Amino acid sequence: MLLLLVVLEALWAGGNTFETHIIGGREAVPHSRPYMVSLQKSGSHLCGGVLLHQNWVLTAAHCLTQPTQQLRLVLGLHVLGDPSLTCRIRKMVLHPKYKPAPHLENDLALLKLDGKVKPSKKIRPLDLPRGRQAVATGTRCSLAGWGQTHQPGNLARALQELDLRVLDTSMCNNSRFWHGDISPHMICLAADSKSQAPCKGDSGGPVVCRRGQVAGILSFSSENCTNIFKPPVAVAVAPYMSWIKNTLRHNSSPPSP
Ligand SMILES: *[C@@H]1O[C@H](CO)[C@@H](O)[C@H](O)[C@H]1NC(C)=O
Ligand SMILES: *[C@@H]1O[C@H](CO)[C@@H](O)[C@H](O)[C@H]1NC(C)=O
Repeated sequence: MLLLLVVLEALWAGGNTFETHIIGGREAVPHSRPYMVSLQKSGSHLCGGVLLHQNWVLTAAHCLTQPTQQLRLVLGLHVLGDPSLTCRIRKMVLHPKYKPAPHLENDLALLKLDGKVKPSKKIRPLDLPRGRQAVATGTRCSLAGWGQTHQPGNLARALQELDLRVLDTSMCNNSRFWHGDISPHMICLAADSKSQAPCKGDSGGPVVCRRGQVAGILSFSSENCTNIFKPPVAVAVAPYMSWIKNTLRHNSSPPSP
């Protein structure tokens, strides 16, 4: 965790963006979000992710600053550190137009697991969105993560969740808010209370707006996670459906001889 913070601090220096945890959330019912994945290095949680398929996870590209041999994906987890299914990463595919901070864009990556997971009560993929429609302003969504629960502070012990609503994109992009940093495939979010927000360690986790479908992947927020003028921002998943489907298809079977 410390290492990631140091790396990101260096990476994001000069901007006011920072990686995002949940402050003011509530503990999720254990295993009620069986698609949640914890991306870890040496047993330390770095980012969230979502299981899309028996052997694919979608997360934020900015979470992948370490060699994949050092990373693990932990599935079926509720309390960090509890014994759970831990997988290696066989393949990492960053979005071809991913632009790192400070002007983060197309912040998505697909990770292929080193084997297929058998769906169970605790481990189950989340569906991709049906249709390419953008998520409308005012839509109610939720997200979950093991990110920090206080600032400064520690990661959550058990998975936390938070309800949010989608903000108007042009407002979010104006000079009082993100001042031009919002690109067309981003979703700005806000919780009901000023004291609630995702924070460091929550990036990469899925934003769920329609039950059973992943609408977005949490990408960035402010260094001060509860700064209301820098609301949390997710990458919308619907506009990237072709890339996701093609990547899964082209990497599903062994290459023909
Ligand atoms: C946000 O503003 C920037 C700078 O004016 C612009 O390039 C970008 O397209 C805007 N984003 C959206 C979603 O309109
Ligand atoms: C973060 O921002 C909020 C609101 O803008 C402010 O009340 C709070 O003191 C700030 N926290 C830190 C750690 O700077």
